[in-house]
Amino acid sequence: MLDAPRTTPSSLAADAFIGLNDAFGREAPLAIEIGPGSGEQCVSWALAHPDWNVLAIEAWSPGAARCLARIVREGAENVRILEADAAQALPILFGLTSAGENDPARIAECGAEVDSGHCGASNPRASEIWTFFPDPWRKKRHHKRRLVNPAFAGIVAGCLGDGGVWRLATDWDDYAWQMRSVVEDSPYFANPYAGERPDENDDEPERGGFAPRWDGRIMTRFEQRGIDAERTVHDICGHVC
Ligand SMILES: C[S@@+](CC[C@H](N)C(=O)[O-])C[C@H]1O[C@@H](n2cnc3c(N)ncnc32)[C@H](O)[C@@H]1O
Repeated sequence: MLDAPRTTPSSLAADAFIGLNDAFGREAPLAIEIGPGSGEQCVSWALAHPDWNVLAIEAWSPGAARCLARIVREGAENVRILEADAAQALPILFGLTSAGENDPARIAECGAEVDSGHCGASNPRASEIWTFFPDPWRKKRHHKRRLVNPAFAGIVAGCLGDGGVWRLATDWDDYAWQMRSVVEDSPYFANPYAGERPDENDDEPERGGFAPRWDGRIMTRFEQRGIDAERTVHDICGHVC
């Protein structure tokens, strides 16, 4: 479990520094899972990819604790957990210009820009960032709480290196359309599956833009729950451009 100075239990101090190479004790390709829940995906993937460093960022204390218990139980030595709100922590961890900003408009304006004077700017960029089955915030008036939005796309892009990939999945149709639009409308990402797998239930039924299921993604409790409820799972993928 990684620690750093905080302003609240889930918020890092704006000048907090976590040296990732030191935290993992080595340099290696980095994958980040945002919202790992109890850690099924990140731990299983880390065990199958011992040559990668895997960082799990979880905002919910019991989730982070379950994730840690799984890491210990399954002996995954290449996973670290940061208990934090990823939207607040990632800019600080990677020294983006939006580090410590609270104003959504200002965060959106900063986009993927790196502040070379921030200590986090020296951290190695990630090769993979995953946002699988984020909280759907189903009521329309709560949609603004959804994690995947244009400002968050800028943050994710700033944390990825050249050739980096953002992978997303959801079992909620309207969130899938939103994720697809966030990726395709972002100046930082290209959708390698643009136009593919159109869905007749889509607001734009001919638009498509959905990825095949990524073979690195395992079936989690959340995905199974969606399938049991007869919801369709959509994968979305953005390549840093
Ligand atoms: C619906 S669960 C999905 C868990 C897991 N990804 C899976 O597929 O089984 C969403 C998780 O994201 C976490 N989460 C929500 N907002 C977050 C944020 N801003 N930063 C980090 N984690 C967050 C929640 O606490 C929860 O554990």
